[in-house]
Amino acid sequence: MTVFMILTIDWLVPFLKWDINTCGTEKISYPVSDLWLPDIEIKELMDEDKSQSIPYLQINYTGGLHLVKVKRIPVSCQLNIYRFPFDVQECSITFLSLIHEEDEMILTSKSVEFSTNSSVDSDSGWKLEDLTKCNFTYNLTSIRSFSCQQYNLTLSREASLYVVNLLVPSCFLSLLDLCSFILPPQNMDRSAFKMTLILGYTVFLIITNDILPKSVSPTPLINVFFSLSLGLMVASLLETMLIVNLSNFPNKYPKVPRWVHVLILDFLGRLLFISHKCPDAQVEVVLNSNAKGNPDITAMMPSLTGEKDEREGSAVVNELKKVAQDLLTIRLRVEEHLRPKQAEIEWNLIANVIDRFLFLIYILFVIASYITIIVLWSSS
Ligand SMILES: *[C@@H]1O[C@H](CO)[C@@H](O)[C@H](O)[C@H]1NC(C)=O
Ligand SMILES: *[C@@H]1O[C@H](CO)[C@@H](O)[C@H](O)[C@H]1NC(C)=O
Ligand SMILES: *[C@@H]1O[C@H](CO)[C@@H](O)[C@H](O)[C@H]1NC(C)=O
Ligand SMILES: *[C@@H]1O[C@H](CO)[C@@H](O)[C@H](O)[C@H]1NC(C)=O
Repeated sequence: MTVFMILTIDWLVPFLKWDINTCGTEKISYPVSDLWLPDIEIKELMDEDKSQSIPYLQINYTGGLHLVKVKRIPVSCQLNIYRFPFDVQECSITFLSLIHEEDEMILTSKSVEFSTNSSVDSDSGWKLEDLTKCNFTYNLTSIRSFSCQQYNLTLSREASLYVVNLLVPSCFLSLLDLCSFILPPQNMDRSAFKMTLILGYTVFLIITNDILPKSVSPTPLINVFFSLSLGLMVASLLETMLIVNLSNFPNKYPKVPRWVHVLILDFLGRLLFISHKCPDAQVEVVLNSNAKGNPDITAMMPSLTGEKDEREGSAVVNELKKVAQDLLTIRLRVEEHLRPKQAEIEWNLIANVIDRFLFLIYILFVIASYITIIVLWSSS
């Protein structure tokens, strides 16, 4: 944590006073380097203190010295980001001397109210919730103990930025995944859509990876949330693959097994309000619109005269009967080919029933897991 603070130190040197009536001035500025300064360290300081020091201090006629330090220092603070971005952190800043022991120097400080009033909000993404102060004795070894002043800061993270940038887009993508169940699974539409969605979500995770805090233990809840959302998308893609496979079953298993029919079509289908009445499979084949109806064969034949013609005529009739027979066979074949097969319709129905069933389970699972995450987030 980087802390920006204005530190004012006041102390009294009794022999530095003067008579205000003869000198006429109340206070003077004096170079810091010529005087003794109390050494006041910050226990949590993490790095070198690079802040610039002001080269003068102020002395008033009673011998009071007033030193101002403007500091911008890195301070160590143990963060617990399990509930990120709704986390509240507690950090402390301790001021103490490491040279002058308790019997030589006792630190006191202004009231907490003063510090709270003079702290300002900055656009750092944190809000100061509470500030408390305590003074205690810091024991370095059993014989050396120092007076110290500790400030405890309670900071809460401004969650709105993360909610808008992370949680809301993720929820929208999940919602899109949920809605894609209305696309027909049999065409490639739905699985292609879900593939694109998973790709988009992965890109989203890569982009937002920089915003997320890095922590190994405990794993932040938001990472669990993202993994869960991705897992749900993958699960719904797997479901679609299963349904596509089921719809293509007739190629491998022409007949629907009896138990599958009873269990899925009769029981589950009725439970989910999917009727399994097959549509009436009637196909009319019209090969030539002019040849509709029963053509009068005899009208097309030449008129029969004499016995020789009669014999010839019966041969023609026989030939025509054979042709008619062949035509009937062809017609049956064509009809059989064009009529949607019973098995195919049934497998499609089974796919639809299972699709709706798994969709319901999926919705239940999504709701349950989201509620769990929200409960974990708001409690703990
Ligand atoms: C002089 O300075 C000291 C320490 O800064 C302060 O306590 C005191 O009130 C000051 N006196 C006057 C008259 O300003
Ligand atoms: C702090 O601020 C409150 C209200 O803004 C005020 O009533 C109070 O006197 C202030 N305290 C100090 C020590 O400045
Ligand atoms: C802490 O501060 C209070 C009041 O400022 C004082 O009475 C007490 O002696 C201090 N305790 C220590 C250990 O310095
Ligand atoms: C330091 O030691 C003193 C007695 O030697 C004891 O009263 C005090 O509680 C100790 N402080 C801490 C922080 O352990």
